[in-house]
Amino acid sequence: MSQRIHSSLPLIDVEGATYRYPVRGGITPAPPAIDAVSLRVEQGEYVALLGHNGSGKSTLARLLNGLLVPEVGHVRMLGHDTRERARRQFVRERVGMIFSDPDSQIIATVVADDVAWGLAARGLPREVIAGRVDAALAAVGLTDARGRAPYELSGGQRQRLAIAGVLALEPACIVADEVTAQLDPRARGEILALLRHLNRTRGLAVVAVTHLLEEAALADRVIVLEQGRIALDGAPGAVFADLDRLRALRLVVPEVALLGERLRRVGRAIPPDALSPEALVAALTEKERRPA
Ligand SMILES: Nc1ncnc2c1ncn2[C@@H]1O[C@H](COP(=O)(O)OP(=O)(O)OP(=O)(O)O)[C@@H](O)[C@H]1O
Ligand SMILES: [Mg+2]
Repeated sequence: MSQRIHSSLPLIDVEGATYRYPVRGGITPAPPAIDAVSLRVEQGEYVALLGHNGSGKSTLARLLNGLLVPEVGHVRMLGHDTRERARRQFVRERVGMIFSDPDSQIIATVVADDVAWGLAARGLPREVIAGRVDAALAAVGLTDARGRAPYELSGGQRQRLAIAGVLALEPACIVADEVTAQLDPRARGEILALLRHLNRTRGLAVVAVTHLLEEAALADRVIVLEQGRIALDGAPGAVFADLDRLRALRLVVPEVALLGERLRRVGRAIPPDALSPEALVAALTEKERRPA
């Protein structure tokens, strides 16, 4: 359902992109929300975009799919530059966005119709739409809810519906902007597992915006933003190795990470990206099973 595209070009190539929100009636220009950022997202990557409030995560997310366009620099998706108006539709169709409020993304009054909406808007034949709706609902586990009203669904189910709507468009990348923020812990875990599953099984690239270290720990790569610039970029194990640096970047270091840090100090081999109780327990028992 997602499209692994045969191309030697990077999936998304951000090159020296700067974005500044317009200030109404102001004389002094606002500081850039994204400031000369360069980064590449490759096909099939799972990237977490981390940063404290106002660091520029949502702005960068919107630049990635052409909802916003940089005033300086470029964002290219498979070579299509979002600064060229005629190319923007190509990018928006292949880089799907999901936001934290599921209700703002639901349009129709019946689940299946909601998934069909974006496809119908593209004028696809009815049989194609039906097939894609079925596949998308199955992919998010909402087949049985297809005839229900979205308002009857739980928050987690509504967020899965939003994901189905994006999947039906067969994207190469999903940009998820704090999509678990309004969910309870169980639904939060389900949505994260779903995104990870879609990434692993379909090669769908995921850029997941979050301000939670424990969510970012699930990614292959973590990018930390600070005042519109990239402060850190690397594997979770490398990025989370320096907790003081993360504190300086005004990120909340979870209790589990503090515990891991203390255990490391007394000689236990706890990887820095063991940021869930489960991961910590796994790291501890792993050590016991493998005698030194
Ligand atoms: N629509 C807007 N108009 C003007 N300034 C904005 C707008 N949206 C964001 N900003 C400013 O741009 C900067 C980056 O905001 P952005 O929303 O990208 O950050 P964020 O990391 O997503 O924050 P949060 O964690 O609160 O979601 C902030 O200084 C913010 O105040
Ligand atoms: Mg945001």
